[in-house]
Amino acid sequence: MATRHIISIGDFDRQEIDRLLDHAAQIYKKKYNENALHGKILAVLFFEPSTRTRMSFESAMARLGGTSLSVGSVEACSMAKGETLADTIRVVSGYADAIVIRHPKEGAARLAAEFATVPVINAGDGAGQHPSQTLLDLYTIRQSMPIDGIDVALIGDLRYGRTAHSLASALSLYNARLHTISPKGLELPATLVADLQAKGMEITEHDDIREIIGMVDVLYVTRMQRERFPDSASYFNVASSYRITPELLAGANENLIVLHPLPRVDEIDPRVDTSAHARYFEQSRNGVPVRMAMLMDVLK
Ligand code: CP
Repeated sequence: MATRHIISIGDFDRQEIDRLLDHAAQIYKKKYNENALHGKILAVLFFEPSTRTRMSFESAMARLGGTSLSVGSVEACSMAKGETLADTIRVVSGYADAIVIRHPKEGAARLAAEFATVPVINAGDGAGQHPSQTLLDLYTIRQSMPIDGIDVALIGDLRYGRTAHSLASALSLYNARLHTISPKGLELPATLVADLQAKGMEITEHDDIREIIGMVDVLYVTRMQRERFPDSASYFNVASSYRITPELLAGANENLIVLHPLPRVDEIDPRVDTSAHARYFEQSRNGVPVRMAMLMDVLK
C-alpha cells in the first residue's frame, strides 16, 4: 500500500474530513485507547518557530502511548553543516514511523514526502498550506454550527497566511461562502481564488469588516506574517490596519464565532477574549484530539 502523506488539505475529500472530525470528537470525549500508538515514534522536524503545532503533535503522540523525537531548528541538526533536506529526510525515515515537518519554504513538505519512506505530515510550508490547522479549525466550527452553507470572513494577511489558504480550500467542500478582507497587496492569491471559484465557491472581497460583521457566522482572523515580508517597511505600512474589538463585535450576529490560528500580535483586542464570540483558545486546545485522530490514521 502507498505511504499516506498529508501535505495539503486537498489530499482529503469531504468524506475523509468528516470521518476524521467524527473520530476527533470521540477522542475529545476520552473514548480512545491510550496505547493505540505504543511502540510508534514520530519525528518532529520544525525549521520554523512553533508553540501550538509542535507541542500538540507531541502531546497527541504521548496521549496515545507513542514517543516523539524532535529537531527544533536548522542550527540544531546536520543541515547546519550543509546536509540537504532530502538526505535529512532519508535518514530520519530510518529512525521514526512518521515525520511531521514545518519549513519556511513552500513545497518543502512535498519534497520531503518524495524522499521519505514513512508518512510525512506538513505542519506548515512557508506561505503554502497548513492542513492539520485546517482540520482543527473545521472541528472548532463544527462544535458551534454545521459547516454547510455558512458565511466565513477571512481577515488579515491572506497572501502569506497558509492557514487561510488551507481553510478556504476546505470550506469549498462545504458550500460555504467566503468573504475576504485584507490590506492592499495581501489579498488571497488570485490562482487560489480562481481555483475555488471554478469549484463553484462564492467569494466576495470587502474593504471593511464592518460591512459584513452582522451577517457572517465565522470571523477568521490572521496576523500579518511578518517573517514573509520582503522588508520591515512593507510590514509596518500595514501592521495596524485592522483590529477586532468588542465595539466591532457589538454589531455581530449573536452566534458569530471568532477564530484565530494564533499566535496573535495585536489584531484581536484582549478584551474580546472574554466575549461569548471568542473561540480561539478552545481552537488551539482542539489541536490535540484532531492531531491524535490524524496520527492514528497515518500510523495504523
Ligand atoms: N497555529 C499555529 O500554527 O501555531 P504555531 O505557529 O504556534 O504552531
